[in-house]
Parts: sequence; C-alpha cells; structure tokens
Amino acid sequence: MSVQTQLKRVTVPEIRAHKGNKPVVCLTCYHAHTARLLDNHVDLMLVGDSLGQVMHGLETPLGVTLDMMITHAKAVMRGSKRALVVVDLPFGTYEESPAVAFRNAAHVLKETGATAVKLEGGTRMAETIHYLSERGVPVMGHIGLTPQMVHVKGGFRTVGRSEEEWPALEADARAVAEAGAFAVVLEGMAEPLAARITRSIPIPTIGIGASPECDGQVLVLEDMLGLNPSPPKFVRQYAQLGPAIEQAVKDYAEDVRERRFPGVENVYPMKKAGSGGQA
Ligand code: KIV
Repeated sequence: MSVQTQLKRVTVPEIRAHKGNKPVVCLTCYHAHTARLLDNHVDLMLVGDSLGQVMHGLETPLGVTLDMMITHAKAVMRGSKRALVVVDLPFGTYEESPAVAFRNAAHVLKETGATAVKLEGGTRMAETIHYLSERGVPVMGHIGLTPQMVHVKGGFRTVGRSEEEWPALEADARAVAEAGAFAVVLEGMAEPLAARITRSIPIPTIGIGASPECDGQVLVLEDMLGLNPSPPKFVRQYAQLGPAIEQAVKDYAEDVRERRFPGVENVYPMKKAGSGGQA
C-alpha cells in the first residue's frame, strides 16, 4: 500500500481491549445532530434497527429495510468524527446465507463508511459471523432478547430468568465469540446469566436490560432522553426532553397566535443605501 493513513475513529481492537479494563459506552444514534452531540462521549454509536420504531413509528423492527439503515447511517457518519459506528443488518438481509449476508454487509460499509455491522442470533448465525469476519467485515453479535424474532417468540420476552434456559444462551454467547465477533450485545437478560456469560467469553458484552455485570452498556438514545413516554424498566432517563419539547412548541404556538413571534431581532431590515448587502 503506497498511502498509509491513521484511522481517525475508535477501532475494533480498541473496543475489544476494553474487556476487563473499562466499560464500553454505547448509545443508539440515527441522525447527524445527535451524532455530533454524542461523538466525544461514547466509544460506539449503534445505528440500530430500533430506528423503525423510534423514527418511523413501526410496531416492530421487521419493516426496516437496508436502504433505511444506509440513509440513517450516512447521516450519523456525517455528524461524527471519532466514535466507532456500527450499523444493524435489518431482518431479511443476512439470515439466508453467509454470502447474502456478506453482500449486504459490504454494501452497508461501502455506502456509509461505517466500521462494523451487528446481526442477531447466536449458534444459528455463527457460520455467518465467521464468514463476514474472515472477509473484512467486523461483526457485533446480539443474543438474548432478539427483537427481530418477535413473532416467533410471541413478544419481546426477557430471557434467562429460569436456569433451564441458560445452557442454550451460554452456547449462543460462546458461538458468537468463537466465530470472531468483536463484541456482543446481551439484551433483556437476567443478571446472573449476563454475569456468567460476561465472565466466560473473551469479548466485551454490551448490555441493554442485562444488568451492570456486562462489560459495557447501550441504551436507545430517545429512551434515556425522556422522549419515550413509557420506557422499559431498564432505562434510566437522564433528561426529560419530551415535556421540554412539548412546552417549547406550546410557547411557540402562543407567540405566533399573539403575534409575539417573530420579534424585531428575527426580522431582516432593508439594506442601507450603498452597503454591500450582507444578510
Ligand atoms: O436496534 C437497536 O437499537 C438495538 C439495541 C437495542 C441494542 O439493537
């Protein structure tokens, strides 16, 4: 290679090196403004297929397409410089075969410039994770509550609350790690199981509703900002932007109706005679 450039973003090996050292900080992100605000504070931004529900009002993530993911991932990349960006492969774009998964994952990385993809599934997706990782596509796994399986499971069901479920979930975690994933999301998982898995695999576990025992945490940004009026139990709200936005809109509506907005400071005056005419 004649030109060697330094990677400017957090890298996959740097995320792996968090294991046993410091927690991985991750949030979902779907657009440029929020990407700019998150960039200096998180290690990893996930363009999650939860954007179907959060941004597009879908009931489940199943209606999310590759094009939707690419559009939002491009915006996140344009808005950020530093954090590693991972893009979810949506339902129907990777399950069929490793080759199909590779084609779609490579398309996402080429179009967006993001670093890695995430896909759901443990043992059943191990071959695909291996195929992608071996061919230059870094993969983040996702096990436990896997939202794309919502119809098979009959809902968004927390896992591992009875010990009979543990062996299969532990096998999933091992399979994902052995296949070459650089990290794995544990979603909606009982604490003792998340702790066991975290201790037993060599890659960082990133929890969402899976207790502080994980090697890192991820939340849906809009949930922690208070934009979701009924967030799940595992969410801590760090702001109440929902009520703040509603109040701002109410104040604006009153000002428009009472002709208090726009004020003099918001109005373009006429050019002074002979001036160059700056806006
Ligand atoms: O789509 C998403 O936002 C996710 C997180 C919940 C991990 O997969």
